[in-house]
Amino acid sequence: MSVRSSRAAGPDRLNRRGLLRCAALCGAAAPVLVACGSGEDEPGETPTEESGPAGEALVPTADVPVGGGVVLDDVIVVQPTEGELMAFTAVCTHQGAKVTTVEDGVMTCSLHGSQFAIEDGENLRGPSGDPAGSVGDLPEVAVVVEGDEVVRA
Ligand code: FES
Repeated sequence: MSVRSSRAAGPDRLNRRGLLRCAALCGAAAPVLVACGSGEDEPGETPTEESGPAGEALVPTADVPVGGGVVLDDVIVVQPTEGELMAFTAVCTHQGAKVTTVEDGVMTCSLHGSQFAIEDGENLRGPSGDPAGSVGDLPEVAVVVEGDEVVRA
């Protein structure tokens, strides 16, 4: 059974992107960079946070269907292929609602219908039918398998 580790995403990526965008608009003036680097009003880029302590047992591996997943409080544990267990935040990158369903390899936010691939969290459809990539991808949450449990890394 293999487990993929978390990639760098979420708030760090937003900060770098915001700073790069700011640098392009504001030049090299460092004091100005500090003033405009939050990115909080970026459409489709809702900051997310991983929560819960490392080592927290999330779900028994046997409860995670192949090609599907299990929606928990703040994460979704998925198994795209047999033995490949991974997790994503359940906080939608559109406006922060909970991503509530996993079906046929797709995680869906019920508030406006954004959809994300279970293989990598990629945005497949935006809110209200907007095209793929119109909101950010779901950030991965680092997990490991310990015994028969998927555990927060
Ligand atoms: S909050 Fe998820 S699609 Fe709008």
